[in-house]
Amino acid sequence: MFDAEIVEHRAATGVAVAAHPGGPAVPAPPAVRVAWAARPWNDQPVRGLENYPLFYDAFCSVMEYWGLSRWRDWLVGGARGRTLEVGCGTGRNLHRYGPGVTLVAVEPDPRMLRVARRRAPDVLLVRASAEALPFRDGAFDTVVSSLVFCSVPDADRGLAEVHRTLRADGRLRMVEHVRSDSRWQARWQDLVQPAWTWCAGGCHPNRRTEQAVERAGFVIEPDGRRRSGTMRRFSARQGRSARP
Ligand SMILES: C[S@@+](CC[C@H](N)C(=O)[O-])C[C@H]1O[C@@H](n2cnc3c(N)ncnc32)[C@H](O)[C@@H]1O
Repeated sequence: MFDAEIVEHRAATGVAVAAHPGGPAVPAPPAVRVAWAARPWNDQPVRGLENYPLFYDAFCSVMEYWGLSRWRDWLVGGARGRTLEVGCGTGRNLHRYGPGVTLVAVEPDPRMLRVARRRAPDVLLVRASAEALPFRDGAFDTVVSSLVFCSVPDADRGLAEVHRTLRADGRLRMVEHVRSDSRWQARWQDLVQPAWTWCAGGCHPNRRTEQAVERAGFVIEPDGRRRSGTMRRFSARQGRSARP
């Protein structure tokens, strides 16, 4: 159904090319507001420990043993129809999707994409960033992200793109770590954030991602919502239009 190649968006004009040459399943947008090629960090993907696939996979294996695996299963278990996974990394969710899901995953880091390709040879993988999703408005029934919006340089813009590409009755499903509710722990997160961000591939431990999701025009649903320490999982539906 999809072209199985990793497609790189490198249009010299600054407009992203179609994500799926010849593939009708996820129609390409007429244009993308800011293209991959226009971003200053285009050829220098975020660097840090979490961008080294071997290290990242080892770390994830431990986290998954301690419960993250169950949360990943919940995350993808609710995906329906045309589904976009944003920031798929090394593709640790990709094998968990059910047969009824038509999946496309985006990720800016080519090293992570290469590992994801080996892990999920049949999934359409697209090199793109959350802030400039190369898909038309309302292309997806479900958008999924796990542990991504702490690292997206412009999370508000990325969430606006998610809002744009999701159908009006679609669902955003997320597993993310967020700013602590404890004042002292949050202060600690603020303190370590610059060093953390530097060595952890752009990750911000103190992001208020749930508030950012609501600001983008989503309503978080109580069903399935969980918190564990600074970890959150939830699904959200489109509410009002995103704030300008
Ligand atoms: C902690 S990893 C999570 C990977 C994967 N989602 C998982 O659950 O294992 C964060 C990922 O977000 C990606 N990322 C960083 N900035 C991004 C952006 N602007 N758009 C999309 N993904 C981004 C990174 O390249 C990295 O693969």
